[in-house]
Amino acid sequence: MKKLVITIDGPAGAGKTTVSKALANRLQYKYIDTGALYRGVAFEAHAKGISPDDDHRLEALCNELELKFVRNNKGVRLYSGETDISDYIRTPEMSMTASAVSARPVVREALLGLQRKMGAEKAAVFEGRDMGTVVFPEADVKFFLTADLEIRASRRHKELEEKKSPQKFEEVERDMQRRDNNDSSRKVAPLKPSEDAILIDSSQYSVESVIEQMMKHINEKSAATP
Ligand code: DC
Repeated sequence: MKKLVITIDGPAGAGKTTVSKALANRLQYKYIDTGALYRGVAFEAHAKGISPDDDHRLEALCNELELKFVRNNKGVRLYSGETDISDYIRTPEMSMTASAVSARPVVREALLGLQRKMGAEKAAVFEGRDMGTVVFPEADVKFFLTADLEIRASRRHKELEEKKSPQKFEEVERDMQRRDNNDSSRKVAPLKPSEDAILIDSSQYSVESVIEQMMKHINEKSAATP
């Protein structure tokens, strides 16, 4: 397989993480979860009592923050400096805070360079909201994965139950809709498919079927790449 940059954008709960990980595994590529970086900023801002609309303090925070992915015996983990913060960034509260800080241009600007650096060697699957539109407009294969709100909410609801932090279905659905609205309506790098993205609606497909569809496009691109 040639060294490609593959981007997978889409709303929360569309199945991006599952398929991105599986694709990266299959291709022996790196998998980069860019949402985790926004969650990392949200976690540190919250810990330091910084409001998500305080651009001045957010900028200072981003300048001193050292976020990195490290593989340890628990898998690929997000570190802030020397601390593994992976276990704290997946709560419903951090989801909302990440969505709020991600609308601030100072935060997006700070994470842009970091993400591009992570993609410099190619051979990577990037998952996020603006991978194909802003971070890697020249990516080799771009996907936009979506699914009906109800289906996405029920997947997230099940995940939270499995993690032993259950939340009412109505709450999960309401939070997801709010986050979709935030992420799609913000001025900078809103969630939207790039013009050359391949749209896949996962509502009626299994994970395997989505991966097979993606692999078809990736193989075609790889064959056509010198
Ligand atoms: O993918 P996720 O749910 O972990 O992302 C958390 C939030 O981060 C999401 O609501 C919007 C933001 N985000 C973003 O703005 N751009 C990205 N590339 C990835 C995530």
